[in-house]
Amino acid sequence: MRLGRIDPSALEQIALALAERGYGIWPNFWPQEEVQGLLAEAEAGWNAGVFAPAHIGHHGSRQRRPEIRGDWIRWLDPEALSPAQARYWAFIEALLRALNRTLYLGLHGVEMHLAIYPPGTGYRRHLDQFRDAPHRVVTCLLYLNPDWKQEDGGRLLLWPDPNREDVYEAVLPEAGTFVCFLSDRIWHEVEVARRVRYSLTGWLRRRTLWD
Ligand code: OGA
Ligand code: MN
Repeated sequence: MRLGRIDPSALEQIALALAERGYGIWPNFWPQEEVQGLLAEAEAGWNAGVFAPAHIGHHGSRQRRPEIRGDWIRWLDPEALSPAQARYWAFIEALLRALNRTLYLGLHGVEMHLAIYPPGTGYRRHLDQFRDAPHRVVTCLLYLNPDWKQEDGGRLLLWPDPNREDVYEAVLPEAGTFVCFLSDRIWHEVEVARRVRYSLTGWLRRRTLWD
């Protein structure tokens, strides 16, 4: 992926993967110097205490259950992005337009947060679209962790077929790796990490009755 000029063939490949398989995994996708900048900002935010513990459920059922979901998050404000965040956001918006053009997904907005999993935490198997969050259509993940090793745990597991527990993809959250999948179709899990794990998680949204 080259910056400045967002590569149209990369966007097409992502659209094709979503249409054909419902997910795609691209190692070494986002430039390393960009990822380093995003990581440094996330570390600075963590040290400054701006991350909040993530919750599960919505509205009435919203609760903190660190044994199910142990990450800490910081929502990005599209009006107050750092330059490195703005460049990644622009790519995600280009992807949104490409998906609308080629797959007619009717997407209209982006929401994104930084996520930090302290050692000993993960996020058990789930879908990103559920009754109380029907607006999430496509999940996009960018990992920020240089030299992630198998023994560091924290892999993302993806189950392409809900009826085949034994068939899954395992992704190391290595710096620059980009993953995207259909939020209502692909069950996934973050294995417990043994080292602090940083990522940038975005969702492409569609309009709902209330927005
Ligand atoms: C999520 C999620 C996966 C990851 O935040 O919903 O599934 O690899 N994240 O960080
Ligand atoms: Mn998820």
